[in-house]
Amino acid sequence: MTATLLRELRQALGEEAVLTDPGATEGYSGDMMPLVPRGRPLAVVFPVDTVQVRACVRACAGAGVPIVPRGAGSGLTGAANAVDGCVALVTTRMNRILELDPDNRLAVVQPGVVNLDLRKAAARHNLFYPPDPSSLEWCTLGGNLATNAGGLCCGKYGTTADFVLGLEVVLADGSVLRTGRRTVKGVAGYDLTRLFVGSEGTLGVISQATFALTPLPAAPGTLIASFDAVEQAGDAVIRVVREGIVPSLMEIMDATSLRASAAYLDSDLGRAGRQVLLLCQSDSGGRAADHELAAMARLCQEAGAAFTHTTRDPAEGDLLLRARRVSLTALEAQGAVMTEDVAVPRTRIAELIVGCEKIGADAGLTVAVVGHAGDGNMHPTVLYDRTSSEEFRRACEAFDAILALGLSLGGTVTGEHGIGRLKQQWLERELGSVSLRVHRQLKAVLDPGSLFNPGAVFTPAEARHGAP
Ligand code: LAC
Ligand code: ZN
Repeated sequence: MTATLLRELRQALGEEAVLTDPGATEGYSGDMMPLVPRGRPLAVVFPVDTVQVRACVRACAGAGVPIVPRGAGSGLTGAANAVDGCVALVTTRMNRILELDPDNRLAVVQPGVVNLDLRKAAARHNLFYPPDPSSLEWCTLGGNLATNAGGLCCGKYGTTADFVLGLEVVLADGSVLRTGRRTVKGVAGYDLTRLFVGSEGTLGVISQATFALTPLPAAPGTLIASFDAVEQAGDAVIRVVREGIVPSLMEIMDATSLRASAAYLDSDLGRAGRQVLLLCQSDSGGRAADHELAAMARLCQEAGAAFTHTTRDPAEGDLLLRARRVSLTALEAQGAVMTEDVAVPRTRIAELIVGCEKIGADAGLTVAVVGHAGDGNMHPTVLYDRTSSEEFRRACEAFDAILALGLSLGGTVTGEHGIGRLKQQWLERELGSVSLRVHRQLKAVLDPGSLFNPGAVFTPAEARHGAP
């Protein structure tokens, strides 16, 4: 059976597009989340177009072999982790921008196009593709769609779902579903596009996507404000929202992450004791940006900022933002980390950060918090000693306590990374049994044989009980 499947795959894709050597397939067995087990794929395949994706799906369905679809593997929940004996379907060779239509402000792409490549292509037409996950230099748009990725821009521009107009999806029976539209408006039928966005490869393989683009904004001006207390920074965020200002970026860093970034960059940012930093940008251009930056500086001062600094120089802004962009790498440089992505209402950000500090203190561990203050999506990061199983256990408990805290503050267990193979048991807790039942029913209708990404989003037991 296995030999037949491999022969079919090689016939359809060509010899060099089907890897079976464990040394080669191992590199495609997981994403960036080390906590979740990864299986050994039977094969890793690299289709180049929809016809080849269909061939893979038909062959695997016929052989009863599951498919784990994946892009570059920048995910943080193990959603792209292989299961034993699966075919890992890698979309990175489906990397063509098929169409860029400036007059209708849209782009049609294959799923393996790298996020930054679409941004650059759009910018050549004075257009903008806003979703900007931190991995934008190497993550693929197919992965962004599968997780409904966000990033730093979301308070102003929204997430991937807000820019996708339509999809082409290869379904479990090998048929090709086309969803959505190319028009600005369009309400025919159920919104199947949104159903697939964020479905983490469990419902089908996205083989093409149509994205809306927006006019290219001005180069951003930047404000940094430092506070002695987390509550003051949280208050500043609330004041900015209440004033009706929509920054194109508003990030928060607590004292621990500031110190880590300062050490990593060898800068003196945040070295002096207890400080919290807000980084805000306006891309409104000209006087509008001057006005927004001045108003945000005033509001930060009214909230108790000890220091503010504003620049319209994009290079200086990039330099300031670097402390935030390197924060997780800087924390990793200090030891093992578990990174979280709870999102809370923007009015509760300070409570979340203070709560994380307490959870860390109770566990005898450090929890650093950086996050997207503009949309309330935080990244509490538990630091632990990977050589101590006892410390690992306490870190896992702290990780769960943070998720529970996020929910208790009216938030969600995942703002942008997804459920994957990390948070399946939290799905029902957040959504409730009726919603989980509807999820299972949709999965059972679209993927009755559990062909796609078994064990992701749903626990294996849930997938087994998937039938309505
Ligand atoms: C970030 C990733 C972790 O914001 O979502 O850096
Ligand atoms: Zn993030």
